[in-house]
Amino acid sequence: MNRNMFTGRNASLQKGVPDKPRMKTTQILKRLWKYLYKFKFLLFAALLMTVTSNLLALAGPSLAGQAVNAISGIGQVDFQEVFRCCGLMLVCYALASLFEWLLSVMLIRLSQRIVFQMRKDVFDHLTTLPVSFFDRHQTGDIISHISYDIDTVNTSLSSDLVQICSSIITVVGSLVMMLRINPPLVLVFAVTVPISIMFTRYMSKKVRPLFSRRSAKMGELNGYTEESISGHKTIKSYHQEETMNGRFSTRNTESCDAYYQADYASAGMGPSVNFINNLSLALISVFGAMLYLFGGRFALTLGDLSSFVLYSRKFSGPINEIANVLSELQSALAAAERVFLLLEEKPEEADVPDAIELAVTNGEVSMEHIRFGYLPEQEIIHDLTLNAKGGSLTAIVGPTGAGKTTLTNLLMRFYDPQSGSIQIDGQNIQSVTRSSLRLAYAMVLQETWLFTGTVRENIAYGRPDATQEEVEAAAKAAYIHDFIMALPHGYDTLLTEDGINISQGQKQLLTIARAMLLNAQMLILDEATSNVDTRTEIRIQAAMRQLMKGKTCFVIAHRLSTIQNADNILVVRDGDIVEQGTHSQLIEQNGFYAKLFYSQFS
Ligand SMILES: Nc1ncnc2c1ncn2[C@@H]1O[C@H](COP(=O)(O)OP(=O)(O)OP(=O)(O)O)[C@@H](O)[C@H]1O
Ligand SMILES: [Mg+2]
Repeated sequence: MNRNMFTGRNASLQKGVPDKPRMKTTQILKRLWKYLYKFKFLLFAALLMTVTSNLLALAGPSLAGQAVNAISGIGQVDFQEVFRCCGLMLVCYALASLFEWLLSVMLIRLSQRIVFQMRKDVFDHLTTLPVSFFDRHQTGDIISHISYDIDTVNTSLSSDLVQICSSIITVVGSLVMMLRINPPLVLVFAVTVPISIMFTRYMSKKVRPLFSRRSAKMGELNGYTEESISGHKTIKSYHQEETMNGRFSTRNTESCDAYYQADYASAGMGPSVNFINNLSLALISVFGAMLYLFGGRFALTLGDLSSFVLYSRKFSGPINEIANVLSELQSALAAAERVFLLLEEKPEEADVPDAIELAVTNGEVSMEHIRFGYLPEQEIIHDLTLNAKGGSLTAIVGPTGAGKTTLTNLLMRFYDPQSGSIQIDGQNIQSVTRSSLRLAYAMVLQETWLFTGTVRENIAYGRPDATQEEVEAAAKAAYIHDFIMALPHGYDTLLTEDGINISQGQKQLLTIARAMLLNAQMLILDEATSNVDTRTEIRIQAAMRQLMKGKTCFVIAHRLSTIQNADNILVVRDGDIVEQGTHSQLIEQNGFYAKLFYSQFS
């Protein structure tokens, strides 16, 4: 993309980190769950594997216990029983490992499918977003959603999910065992577990904004990097490498700081919860000993006490783990939040319910009393009325920032006016489908866009099925055919992204050839020939008139010498049409146009 802080006005209006309302955790989880649910079979299989491998592993200790019980004294060993238990243990552990391996494979699959789906959703959604969204956001930041944020979600999703599941199984399993040994002693956890949970929740709340910041800073860093790379020539020519490095360092520091702060805050969670759990161990020892001595009905043996302690470790270990995982999950949640917020960006408004296909007969375009501002409170076009007859060539001239490109944005419905109407052959463009409207125009933008592909693919972008003859005819009309033939592989020459290996004017000619091939009924050229020499510009317009016979053309040009043949010249100034007429009429009026014209030729 050619849009960066050095070439586009859009850049100056971009906000680095958009201040959007945060989503609730439950909302994020709900949406994540939707993704998981999409692959419910895989998910279910993975959960089954987790349960199976954990239960098999839980069986181990009890089998070991049975084996020990079989050894009741020297010379009194039930060898058959011991071998049976040991054999079973071997089988159990082997199966547990096997299932664990299967589980990892499934999880990798699952998370990759989710990543695929999320990327697809984000990209698909991006293509539905209105032009205004891209005018407001940094390219690099948008890319960061697709790469960094989705990766973060994925990393955590695949590992943490299993952690939580197996932790839950172990916790429940050992809780049951402890209840079987001595219920009153379990009450100790009634004190410590709520403390851990409350603490964890408190920390999660504190930590997640930090992770949100981390993601946002990362997006900012990416945005800046993208800007700097696409503006590298300007940077070099202004000898601003140092400043750029400095600014990069600032952002780099900020993003590392954000990283550090988030991880620093979450690092405290595990040890703190661990400490609380060790407290529970101390409490169990004290109360256990008291029960052992004066327990009465709830007295327990030393053996019971020691196994209770062992189970309590097994019990609180996973709780500790869950706390760790929860802190890790915060980063995933923060990243997921950014992804979902992007997915929630309003797509381009739908066509009206009974929208019809635009039927262009004559190609007459008229605008009536249009009022428009990119921001409602900042009007740029004031009560503008114009009429372009079918098959005519309308030239739009005027100083920089007058609103010429804005007019084309309105014609294409990239933006809708606040009031007034635009009609094509009497049909209001609000009542026709956007696709039929946009297909009716061929448009060459002020910013050229070529993509990685051959010259032919670039020209035939709007009509991939065009024949070689048609492509060549378009290239000839755009006066670029000879240049293409001189390229190493002619029409099969591969252009790198943005056409770095050809000149700016040649790029424009290629995009003109692309528009000419489209065979649309109407044409908009927004300074499409500004980088081409005057003679070629005039020749292209002549060729275009030939090619566009009976088609309505809008040409925006700064060089007035090139538009003298236009049927109608609109002079735009501060969003108003101040004069209109043919070249000779306007010269005769001796107004703004005449002044502009003479200033270019004096
Ligand atoms: N996406 C946008 N958001 C907000 N304001 C914008 C946006 N695009 C353009 N503007 C503003 O609208 C006004 C008209 O811009 P426009 O692009 O139509 O000018 P133009 O006549 O095409 O100028 P140029 O000859 O330089 O191409 C300018 O003041 C500009 O700052
Ligand atoms: Mg413009």
